[in-house]
Amino acid sequence: MTQLICQKCSAVYGADDPRWRCSCGHVLDLHFEPAFPLDKIKQRKPSMWRYREAIPIDADAGIVSFDEGFTPLIEVNIAGKAVLVKQEQLFSTGSFKDRGASVLISQVKALGIREVAADSSGNAGSAIAAYCAAAGISCHIFVPAYTSPGKLAQIQLYGATLNKIPGTREDTAHAVLAAAETIYYASHYWNPFFFHGTKTFAYETCEQLGWKAPDTVILAAGNGSLLLGSYIGFNELLQAGIIEKIPRLIGIQPENCAPLVKGFKENSIEIPGIQKKETIAEGIAVATPIRGKQILDAVKQTGGDMMAVSESEIKQSLKEMCRKGHYIEPTSAAVIAGVNRYILNHRQQKSTANEVIVSVFTGHGLKAGGKMPDILNK
Ligand SMILES: Cc1ncc(COP(=O)(O)O)c(C=O)c1O
Ligand SMILES: [Zn+2]
Repeated sequence: MTQLICQKCSAVYGADDPRWRCSCGHVLDLHFEPAFPLDKIKQRKPSMWRYREAIPIDADAGIVSFDEGFTPLIEVNIAGKAVLVKQEQLFSTGSFKDRGASVLISQVKALGIREVAADSSGNAGSAIAAYCAAAGISCHIFVPAYTSPGKLAQIQLYGATLNKIPGTREDTAHAVLAAAETIYYASHYWNPFFFHGTKTFAYETCEQLGWKAPDTVILAAGNGSLLLGSYIGFNELLQAGIIEKIPRLIGIQPENCAPLVKGFKENSIEIPGIQKKETIAEGIAVATPIRGKQILDAVKQTGGDMMAVSESEIKQSLKEMCRKGHYIEPTSAAVIAGVNRYILNHRQQKSTANEVIVSVFTGHGLKAGGKMPDILNK
């Protein structure tokens, strides 16, 4: 039976309860027993829904899906090492957020909810808007006014109402909470169903490696939807006896907005406040991540690390990836800059020679179209 459990007060709610946070105000997690019938999974079509018994949606009839997922895992040479990079920019809306949106909007539909609100730096909003369009659910997306114009157009073309909020990403998060008083909040960081979509990243990675876990997985960390989802997914595979270890999770943030890196290095109990500066990695410019402590606990559990990258490293990685034929957006390039830094830092250690490192292209370059000419000309 699927249940929602509060991280703070341990209150338990049924999955049919249309709530996105505990009545005490804290975040909820999902308690759910996944199953992995590998023989059946192998025979199904290559989409994230092939792990059907591990996704906490009851009825097949309401599933909202574009047959997304099973993105290629390809070798990319980064700092002289062959890194396996999952091509998450190839999703229908252009980012990995489709994984979470497919599961979350399937649950919204199952609950009979007809209208949702969500906030986003652009990509989660595009994904929620697209899946709501497919499900016939009306959708209000809140984004910072500085969001790339391509993402703003995309959200509106899917038929969502767009609310451009002046100021920071935090001002946008604040604005949506007012809307969430009356409209269901389909949040990609509050709502635990989203993470049970992004967790399929871990399943696919292991399946593509012959049901083995990689040694190290390097991911972006803004609100942590991919990092925490991956942690859940790898844990579930470990519990099921399918893999033998959880990979080290390394979270990457831009130096200009790195509260999690600061919290990790200082080993602080609460996520410290930071003086946020502008960054071209707009998707991970999150100064006060709601699940920040949960992200750091996950990284620590795996023996992982948190690393920050500079604006010039991000631009350089973006250009390097494009020169290899991979057109990714700046936020996505921040992760690759982190991979580059990780490999250079660990070069002396012999253990890294055979280390299987997995990373990700999180978003397509075409999404940041308006901002790419500036990068080209600098
Ligand atoms: C392209 C891209 N990469 C990475 C992320 C980071 O995801 P999260 O904030 O869930 O950690 C985002 C978030 O919007 C994004 O748009
Ligand atoms: Zn509670």
